[in-house]
Amino acid sequence: MASPTSRPEPALSWLDSAIRVKPLQLADSWKKQQVEDALKKIHLTGAQVLRIKEVFHSEVERGIHEQPSSLQMENTYIPELPNGTEEGMFLALDLGGTNFRVILLELSNGALIRENVKRYHIREELRLGCGERLFDFLAECVSDFVRSQNLGGTRLPLGFTFSFPMIQKGLDVGILLTWTKSFNCPSVVGRDAVQMLREAINRRGDTHVEVLAVLNDTTGTLIQGAVLDKKTAIALILGTGSNACYIERADRVQHWEGQRHGEKEVIIDIEWGAFGDNGVLDFIKTDYDRKVDENSLITNSFTFEKYISGKYLGEIVRVIVVKLVEDCVLFGGTVSDALLTTGAFTTSFVSLIEQDTVGNNCENTPEILDKLGLSYNADDIAIMKYICETVSNRAALLVSICTATLLERLDRPDTTIAVDGSLYKYHPRLKSWMNKYIHLLAPEKKFKLLLAEDGSGKGAGLVAAIALRLKQRFSQT
Ligand code: BGC
Repeated sequence: MASPTSRPEPALSWLDSAIRVKPLQLADSWKKQQVEDALKKIHLTGAQVLRIKEVFHSEVERGIHEQPSSLQMENTYIPELPNGTEEGMFLALDLGGTNFRVILLELSNGALIRENVKRYHIREELRLGCGERLFDFLAECVSDFVRSQNLGGTRLPLGFTFSFPMIQKGLDVGILLTWTKSFNCPSVVGRDAVQMLREAINRRGDTHVEVLAVLNDTTGTLIQGAVLDKKTAIALILGTGSNACYIERADRVQHWEGQRHGEKEVIIDIEWGAFGDNGVLDFIKTDYDRKVDENSLITNSFTFEKYISGKYLGEIVRVIVVKLVEDCVLFGGTVSDALLTTGAFTTSFVSLIEQDTVGNNCENTPEILDKLGLSYNADDIAIMKYICETVSNRAALLVSICTATLLERLDRPDTTIAVDGSLYKYHPRLKSWMNKYIHLLAPEKKFKLLLAEDGSGKGAGLVAAIALRLKQRFSQT
């Protein structure tokens, strides 16, 4: 591939202008200059965009060939999609956010005919404490749920959505590599989450569940997307955390433990949140990103997730705002305690402020600034909107660059990309930016973004059904 610097300039200037956000309008030229200087490095240039694309492509290649890479490219061992024969009752567990969900799904001819869900809040001391206690709590929830459904004596196949980076040694083995988002129970790292779950369930001994598969939420989203649209071959989660998976040719996949059974394809969980953890993205890292990392639960990890996901976008904005207040550009140089609190400026604020920009009005921004105890004027509002737009636009671009690279990797003329996650659902223009940028960066490929909700629930039930089918098929061969 040609190096980005060797590309003809006109193409780059065209890309530069296509990705640029609207300039900040301020009567005060000193302030305008200060804000522009402060945000300069957040705006990606066309050359940087092309370089990121190349770097991502190369990290994907290295990862899939088990060479050092920041992308894990994990084999999920799911070689096929639902085929309409899925039948019966399945349990799905969803662990990834602060609420744990237990779901009963009844399928008939692959269609969902019943779904009962219960949510259990996971307290912080469990999320940050000893692993066994966390898994004992999960087993307690499973037992409570099964009892509440009067299914105590029933044997239930189970799909476990465990939305963290893991090394898979089979469909039902997932060794935790590192925690992300709001979890950090050190004693689980390096251990098989399925085994820990089975042990906790056995310690109680009051349910008859059979854990058949462990999966990531992106994988569940791809499976759920495939039910809605057969062209689905990529799935993204743009929520508190972020990740992507896609259908890869099985012959390209080096890491395959156990016997192969003539699989043609397999879903690969990229774990793109860790993209750049080896330094390959350092050329876009700003001081704000460094600060966000320093303030995070697990530092020096999940570089890409910290640029794009719901857990961090608000925090990037907050860090930029604090710097501009210190420089007396915003709020007359006066901060509030709330503004100085890590995590206090949530990504939902970013989405709300973006709504004002998109709707060309000013309803949400003053309300948010009031909530944060800040005194403001019209310039402050305009600057806040500009910061949120700039940070959101960088996230949209980064996600689009990697998605376009995946599209180009697939040998398909038309691909549906299943997407789920709060950021995607509530940000008012992430989707339209993505449509524009993906098209710009993979012009030859036809694609569609499809909201596929609750892959970690419905998708997990379907994966359990696929696992059951494979188990029966392989036991006959
Ligand atoms: C996790 C991924 C997950 C993503 C979305 C990330 O923090 O590492 O495994 O898919 O969040 O939930």
